[in-house]
Amino acid sequence: MTTPVMPTYGRLPVRFSHGQGAWLFDERGERYLDALSGIAVCGLGHAHPALTAAISEQAGRLIHTSNLYAIDNQERLAQMLVDLSGMDSVFFGNSGAEANEAAIKIARATGHARGIDVPRIAVAEGSFHGRTLATLSATGNPKVHAGFEPLVQGFVRFAYDDIEALEKIAASDGDVVAVLVEPILGEGGVVVPRSDYLVRLRALCDQHNWLLMLDEIQTGMGRTGRWFAHQHADVLPDVMTLAKALGNGVPIGACLARGAAAEALKQGSHGSTFGGNPLACAAALAVLETMRSDALVERAQARGERLREQLSQALRGLNCVREVRGQGLMIGIELDRPCTELVARALDKRLLINVTAERVIRLLPPLIIDDEAIDHIVASVRELVSEWNAGE
Ligand SMILES: Cc1ncc(COP(=O)(O)O)c(C=O)c1O
Repeated sequence: MTTPVMPTYGRLPVRFSHGQGAWLFDERGERYLDALSGIAVCGLGHAHPALTAAISEQAGRLIHTSNLYAIDNQERLAQMLVDLSGMDSVFFGNSGAEANEAAIKIARATGHARGIDVPRIAVAEGSFHGRTLATLSATGNPKVHAGFEPLVQGFVRFAYDDIEALEKIAASDGDVVAVLVEPILGEGGVVVPRSDYLVRLRALCDQHNWLLMLDEIQTGMGRTGRWFAHQHADVLPDVMTLAKALGNGVPIGACLARGAAAEALKQGSHGSTFGGNPLACAAALAVLETMRSDALVERAQARGERLREQLSQALRGLNCVREVRGQGLMIGIELDRPCTELVARALDKRLLINVTAERVIRLLPPLIIDDEAIDHIVASVRELVSEWNAGE
């Protein structure tokens, strides 16, 4: 079927009509296990009654006013986020890229305030930060840049999980003001850095007066078994960005800042028409309250361990499997060769997965997932990878 929608996405041949918990249903009523959550978005799964009620109630009262006026839900949400994170203040937008744009502007404003004409931000190879011009320029993947040059200037690249690479930049470039980095590379292949990486990054940033800016758009909101992935390492960033699971699918992004970074954007220097409107914030408030009341962060930690252990066991002995890795319910299975076609094969088995960095099967199931669904994922992935291993 042809469609006037721009062909920017390679779409799989399925249309979903509704969802329930960790399951999605197509137009014929066929059931699929969602082990991807709309790429780390639907942490509460689909059609969660608390979220549905909060959205319906708010939609029936007030959807949008403008940031010209005070917004109760926005202030409450900001307070909850700073309480959970130890940050000082929040700017709300509508997506991950928009949250990172705010972070980039904070870094540049900080640099200009220090008298640096072309302030630079250090960014990692293999990273992904979004598709707007500034965030695609920050992204460490040439495929994302291709066709959109000239890139936005002011980024320097370093090898991920390599502190010495950053020390070299520190020694040679006095105009760097910030490091923007994912605590775990998501699109880059679920790459978990060494356990002391963030602590060493924090120390390096302190030494050189750089802002530590963590992109927690994929890793945040309980996904890795902590509210935010950096909390595994007991460090505090200066800036943190969130989106994806914050609204469980209702578009909302947030840029949180602390200390001097929280003072960098002044009145009139940044804005977003829809950012933090009453509806989006009602959804995010319901997400946070449900995550807290149902202990979903702890659940992600426990279920993630179980899923990783079961996968490791089930895939043991299959030559094509290089590694099963991850944290909490952010899991990557690296194979020995490109395997993007496994996404379509999994769909045939009624399992929704994704492949990143060409050879890493990525699993991001909802945080509400139960043991039965975990067993189902393990059995389906085992079948899928066994067939692949046998060259079928
Ligand atoms: C780590 C990270 N940063 C930023 C983004 C961009 O978010 P959005 O697509 O909401 O703009 C993504 C999306 O995949 C992401 O994973």
